[in-house]
Amino acid sequence: MKKPMKIALLGLGTVGFGVYEFIQAHKDLELACAMSLVVPEGVTCPIVADIETILRDETIDTVVEVIGGLHPAYEFVTGALRAHKNVVTANKLLIAAHYRELVTLAGENGVSLRCTAAAGGGIPWLTSLERTAAQEPITRISGIMNGTTNYILDTMHRTGSSFADALSQAQQLGYAERNPADDLNGADIRRKLVISSNIAYGCVLDEAEVVTEGIEHITGADIAAFKRLNRVCKLIAASRRLENGVAAYIEPALMPPSMPESAIPQNYNLISLTGEHIGKQSFYGQGAGRYPTAYNILQDCLDVSRGVSGFYTDRLNEAHVDNSSIRRQYYVRVSGMDKWLQEKVDKILDYGMITKEVSVPEIHGWLKQRRRTDPGCFIASLR
Ligand SMILES: NC(=O)c1ccc[n+]([C@@H]2O[C@H](COP(=O)([O-])OP(=O)(O)OC[C@H]3O[C@@H](n4cnc5c(N)ncnc54)[C@H](OP(=O)(O)O)[C@@H]3O)[C@@H](O)[C@H]2O)c1
Repeated sequence: MKKPMKIALLGLGTVGFGVYEFIQAHKDLELACAMSLVVPEGVTCPIVADIETILRDETIDTVVEVIGGLHPAYEFVTGALRAHKNVVTANKLLIAAHYRELVTLAGENGVSLRCTAAAGGGIPWLTSLERTAAQEPITRISGIMNGTTNYILDTMHRTGSSFADALSQAQQLGYAERNPADDLNGADIRRKLVISSNIAYGCVLDEAEVVTEGIEHITGADIAAFKRLNRVCKLIAASRRLENGVAAYIEPALMPPSMPESAIPQNYNLISLTGEHIGKQSFYGQGAGRYPTAYNILQDCLDVSRGVSGFYTDRLNEAHVDNSSIRRQYYVRVSGMDKWLQEKVDKILDYGMITKEVSVPEIHGWLKQRRRTDPGCFIASLR
């Protein structure tokens, strides 16, 4: 009979405790030890204080990293890969920032690196990208990839509450962190979009090149204006494979009610891929939370124990972001006109205005300048 795979678990926080419960209940996996600053009640496995003990232990096959952040997660994960241990992680910050290095390190050391929970929480999104990309050129990715911002936008639309009240509700329900900046400004989604695009297109994108606008400047008055336009505001991440490079951007988008994204409630995610022959496929579910996220980590561990090796792709082609071919009309709400806006405006609304078609780099470049004198201004593309 095959011996259960031996795992060291780094972190026993929100996700880590869920992973602990799942592993303890699974016959094909054995929890050798956990490393944690605080040990939650009920944890019975051995607790190890330093990473070296784990790295030296040749009986440990796999390290699960759920401490989050860049450091010391980077040192722990690279140390584990170099010690010929498989790594399963949910750490999108780490994977997006050190993508090429980590994928290469896993390949050189002949071990697995899996991070399905890093994008889409409990949705089997990265594994679906992996399976599809192996057979079929993926041309596009798009969707709602952050539950916190979707909860806030959904609440504002449904109840008419202010941004601050909707955020506070999200925090009370545990959908938003105490410091929600990375969710609200789009940085969290950018990491997920980079990892997803890299796997889909076999490339390595630089996060800094992905144009990113979040929802922190949206107001109740904007939402009321969108209702009059019969549109629903969603924070959309999108990328496309181009002949030379990739288009990739994150921005609030005003969707007609007929689009599936408009109906996504609360903290749910809806992510779609488009394949050259298969068309569009969409994945809907819980994008975060203890058990959905821990579930994908468990699935990764089981895949590794069944012999799935390496990363989701071994293609690491350098690619640059070029959004110049993406052109749309935009809703713009500012505190006064300026020369650029005067030239681009198509329609003045009761509240805000609609521009003519402009390119993504043009409007985001203008927005960056404009924020210096008009910090609260807001844009959303029309879909
Ligand atoms: N929460 C979600 O729904 C979700 C969804 C998808 C992905 N993820 C990812 O999953 C990872 C973990 O998230 P989480 O929500 O579980 O975070 P969390 O609740 O803050 O848990 C992290 C745990 O790691 C511990 N820790 C920090 N540094 C450590 C160290 N050097 N050694 C041992 N333990 C250490 C923390 O202890 P202290 O609290 O004492 O610092 C905490 O208990 C992150 O990468 C996150 O992006 C989370």
